[in-house]
Amino acid sequence: MSDPNFTHDSPQSDTLNDFTPEPSEVRRVVVLISGSGSNLQALIDAQHHGELGGDIVAVISNVANAHGLVRARDAGIDAVVLPHGEYDSRDAYDGALIKVIERHQPDLIVLAGFMRILTPRFVQRYLGRMLNVHPSLLPAYRGLNTHALALADGVTEHGCSVHFVTEELDGGPVIVQAAVAVTEGETEESLREKVHTREHLIYPIAVKWFLEGRLRFDGEGATLDGTPLPPQGLRLSHADAAEELDEEERDED
Ligand code: GRF
Repeated sequence: MSDPNFTHDSPQSDTLNDFTPEPSEVRRVVVLISGSGSNLQALIDAQHHGELGGDIVAVISNVANAHGLVRARDAGIDAVVLPHGEYDSRDAYDGALIKVIERHQPDLIVLAGFMRILTPRFVQRYLGRMLNVHPSLLPAYRGLNTHALALADGVTEHGCSVHFVTEELDGGPVIVQAAVAVTEGETEESLREKVHTREHLIYPIAVKWFLEGRLRFDGEGATLDGTPLPPQGLRLSHADAAEELDEEERDED
């Protein structure tokens, strides 16, 4: 899939990134999940189509019966369960998690519905090489229940964001967002489904940018091809995402 029509206000730059991965070196990704793993599946599918820029080498879940583990095993990926209930503290858990992750020597950590607050130690260790997808157009609706909150506010547009993970919950620099139009009669479930389609579209793209060395965290913000991204990242409109996904244009009038 080619990159869809992202828009942003920053000036374009021809500056070349100084980080060029060795062509022979396969980039390694570890994905952390807690649930269904539909974003994991989108990443697996992208990898199978040669569109991820690397390999998912392990999937780790803090929940033993997370469906994402089945998706990982079906794809022949190492699937690891690390139940948080077996650890006395958040710090002890994150220490154990680091150990498991390090065995796989990842270039990138991808949070895909990993429902845990991470300790500063964990975040610092992977700062600049850990991404998350969040179901809102950040900075709106950080935290949980984003769809219900958006509906209660009567917004006409909602969406999702991929961002670098920092110590601020859902507050790291945004890389890319995709919007959905909120239509009449929308329910939490229908909105969740629509937002999911956008997540599955933009997450593999952001991962590929990172693995190709195009996307970086410079300590303050995100850069793409050496150009700072705007605070809310690149934005894919509802219409452009719908076109990319071959959705029928029924919501736009
Ligand atoms: C997604 O909505 C994502 O935005 C949030 O957790 C959910 C994970 O869904 N961080 P899935 O497990 O990938 O289906």
